[in-house]
Amino acid sequence: MNRRDFNRICSSMVASATAIGSLPIAHAASERVTYNKSQLLNENKKLLSPETLIPGEPYLFFYPFITTPCFLIDLGNQTNADKKSLSDKDGNNYLWHGGVGPNKSVVAYSAICTHKMSHPAREISFINYRHEKTAYFSREGKSEERSQVISCCSERSVYDPRDGARVLSGPASQPLASIDIEYDEVTGAFYAIGSYGGDMYEKFFEKFGFRAGIEHRVSDPKKLAGDTAVVRKVVDYSGQVIKC
Ligand code: FES
Repeated sequence: MNRRDFNRICSSMVASATAIGSLPIAHAASERVTYNKSQLLNENKKLLSPETLIPGEPYLFFYPFITTPCFLIDLGNQTNADKKSLSDKDGNNYLWHGGVGPNKSVVAYSAICTHKMSHPAREISFINYRHEKTAYFSREGKSEERSQVISCCSERSVYDPRDGARVLSGPASQPLASIDIEYDEVTGAFYAIGSYGGDMYEKFFEKFGFRAGIEHRVSDPKKLAGDTAVVRKVVDYSGQVIKC
């Protein structure tokens, strides 16, 4: 399936999606919202510890709702800085909390592109983490190349996961929303506990809620994640992962 086909199918879902009742997800832009505390588990539904994450491998889980995808990435080394100041498309400032885990290298972001909400689906994903060197054009039109980026191949938005997923390139107007992850040093467990930054959840449900419900075989795509959330490799979830 090419991008045009994918876009066409997604667009055709819009009319149906509007029939779904609207769950209020009201909160001030960018503020931290606490959702259910969900322990992240591996595919065998056992403890997902830092040692079981392969550095540079993008993983996927669904949070804070059972159909909203998030990336989990062990970047391999400590992130740039704690408490980095970012702003959403409306100019609301917020602080990025930095990586977690024993090396402060594990980060999590909503995998819904803030441009037109491309996201990993069963059939295909146009947005993914690239650990290897990736070429792109900066917002000033300069040719750049760097590793460790989240790249959306729909219209080439590029985000920096080392820096709160701020936008490096492309039409995206704000960083990916950050997922608040808590790390328990005693047990080695990770928990998703909330979300902050300019999230796209409400718009995602408006546009893709119907399809997401079918994909996840649930009657309510807006249902909140429960006590646990299963983490799997992106390549084990999406049949085709596009690189650009
Ligand atoms: S949807 Fe990601 S760049 Fe357009």
